[in-house]
Order: sequence, then C-alpha cells, then structure tokens
Amino acid sequence: MIFAANFKTNHTRSSTAAYLKQLAKTIAPKRAEDRVMVFPPATALDRYEGDFTVGAQNAYPVQNGAVTGEIGLEQLEEFDIRTILIGHSERRELLGESQEMVAKKFSFFKEHGFEIIYCIGEPLEVREAGEEAVKAYLFAQFEGIDLSYEKLIVAYEPIWAIGTGRSATTEAIASTHAALRSKVTVPLLYGGSVKPANITEITAIDNVDGVLVGSASLDVESFSEMILK
Ligand code: PGA
Repeated sequence: MIFAANFKTNHTRSSTAAYLKQLAKTIAPKRAEDRVMVFPPATALDRYEGDFTVGAQNAYPVQNGAVTGEIGLEQLEEFDIRTILIGHSERRELLGESQEMVAKKFSFFKEHGFEIIYCIGEPLEVREAGEEAVKAYLFAQFEGIDLSYEKLIVAYEPIWAIGTGRSATTEAIASTHAALRSKVTVPLLYGGSVKPANITEITAIDNVDGVLVGSASLDVESFSEMILK
C-alpha cells in the first residue's frame, strides 16, 4: 500500500522536520512493502534522506524564470525533490488550473523523470448524475495525460469527499476504481476524508493500492495509526 500525506497549506519548515523525524520512529514496525510519501508546503521542502518520499504539492512547468509566486524545477532540484502532485482539485477549483495547464505540467515533469501523483475527481453534482456521468468526467481529466508513463500514480479524490469528513462509500470507491483500472495499470490511490476510522475498510477495496490523506495526516500519530493498521 501507498500512504501519502498531503499537508496542503499546513505545517512549517520546522514542524515538517519534526514530523518526519517522529514519523520514522512511530512507523518503524510498518510492513516492508508499504510506501510512505509526504507532501509538505513548498517552503518546507528540504533535502531528505530516509525511508519516505518527500514530494512537492505543485510547481510551475519551467526550469526557472519570470513566474511570480511560483517555484520551478530549479527550486525542486536544490533539494533533490523528484516527486510531484499534479491536478489536485483545490488547484483546479480554487486556483483555476485548466486541464490544458495540468497536462502541460504533467508533460514537463514527465520529461524530467518525476514520479507523478496525478489527481482526478468529480464534484457532487456529477456524482449525483450517476456512474456514467462520473466516468465521463474523470476520463476527461485524462486528456493530454500519458497514462502509460511508468512513474505515474493516479489518485481518485471525489471533491465532495475532500475535507468534509464524508468519505465516498465502499461501493462508489470500488466501482470507480474498477472503471479507472480499465484505463490504467498504474497504482490507484483513493483520497477524501480517509482517517484511522475508515482506513482498513478503504484499503481492503479491490483496485485500491493506497490512499492520499489530507486532514488526518496532519497529526503524526493519526497518520502513523493508519499506516500501522
Ligand atoms: P482530506 O483531503 O483527507 O482532508 O479529505 C484529501 C486530499 O485533498 O488530498
């Protein structure tokens, strides 16, 4: 299983360093085949040597240049960051990232050999319109994305389940992941209100190869509990 922590706009450089140190201690007995990834905010990125993967939540598809407020490849290379989240719904919805921009980022970071967690997810009105509508919406988010990229991981995160405490049902996750599996062979993560109380149920679903966790990953004890369950 893959356990990925998305800190979003939480934690600082010093609290991230303390978190990683503590996490190494608390999850020492974890299963050898499990993989742990942490995505701190950009200001907390640092060189990291250890068992986990530390990645970026976002970057602009440039080596460097005039893109005020963004970071590019040069800033990631400084800390040897080789993993990135692309297409998170908060970036699509709150920051207006179009599919075209998302695909541009994907191509750029693929060209540079990054491991990419590519996020997709539907809003509530699409979920309410039924399975076929969900599939069409999600598959449209694959436009311009090379699904055969060997360093790709796909994260399915229904927007209505993110940060709401209301995870998708086991049935909805199972059927959506089965539909995604018909398109990709890469690992499939589920995200959206994953927490210690539902982790066992979610990781037991067919075609779920891991989880992307926001709120419940912020506390190192809570994230560790999920990994050790
Ligand atoms: P959540 O966020 O766990 O707080 O729902 C998940 C995500 O957005 O990656």
